[in-house]
Amino acid sequence: MPKVKEQRMDEIRSMEHVFEWTDYNSKNPFPKGSWNSKIFKNEHPVVLELACGKGEYSIGLGSLYPNKNFVGFDIKGNRIWVGATKVLELGLENIRFFRAYIDHLGQFFEKNEVDEIWIIFPDPQLKKDRKKLTSPKFLELYRPLLKKGATINLKTDSPELYEFTKEVIQQENLILHRDVGDVYKECPNDPELSIRTYYEGLHLKKDRTIRFLSFSLT
Ligand SMILES: C[S@@+](CC[C@H](N)C(=O)[O-])C[C@H]1O[C@@H](n2cnc3c(N)ncnc32)[C@H](O)[C@@H]1O
Repeated sequence: MPKVKEQRMDEIRSMEHVFEWTDYNSKNPFPKGSWNSKIFKNEHPVVLELACGKGEYSIGLGSLYPNKNFVGFDIKGNRIWVGATKVLELGLENIRFFRAYIDHLGQFFEKNEVDEIWIIFPDPQLKKDRKKLTSPKFLELYRPLLKKGATINLKTDSPELYEFTKEVIQQENLILHRDVGDVYKECPNDPELSIRTYYEGLHLKKDRTIRFLSFSLT
């Protein structure tokens, strides 16, 4: 591993607001069910950002909503380090990061423990539908963890992922709350949708249209 990456991994391992889980067969399970009582130590809603990269959304939403708790999830420690360091600089107490594969989310959250999910510019996974983070397989992974009516929010530059997700919403009889085909044309001043991530910056440079969907399973 290159030296900078190694250093960053060491640093995040020493940060109290960053969790890491790589042993999915561990005999000592993660204390799920304790996000409110032991980790955030408040009863505020718990919001997940999946595939958070450098965590811009967790930080942006966490600043907009001090009365909500945010957990940014990603497998890349190098990227999490960027967000985790920023959180320390800004002194934000309502944000945590978690380094693990999303596929094991059920090991870290109890039934009904999550109030909302944000998925921002995930890899569109054009070749394999089941790897898309809004595929029925992933939605079934999220379902037990979500409170009734919890929204799942997707921001993407990928027309394929946007259309795929709309089809899933229709086929699975899910509830569509918002469908924005062009974020910067239709709602340029929306404070939630104006948060910019590293990947969004790359897509905007190429003049790609940014799309947004918000839906719930129940
Ligand atoms: C295209 S990047 C987007 C990052 C960020 N949301 C942004 O907009 O800049 C996709 C991210 O998803 C993460 N990722 C992809 N599959 C994952 C998985 N199964 N578990 C955890 N992280 C994953 C990658 O490590 C990467 O940081």
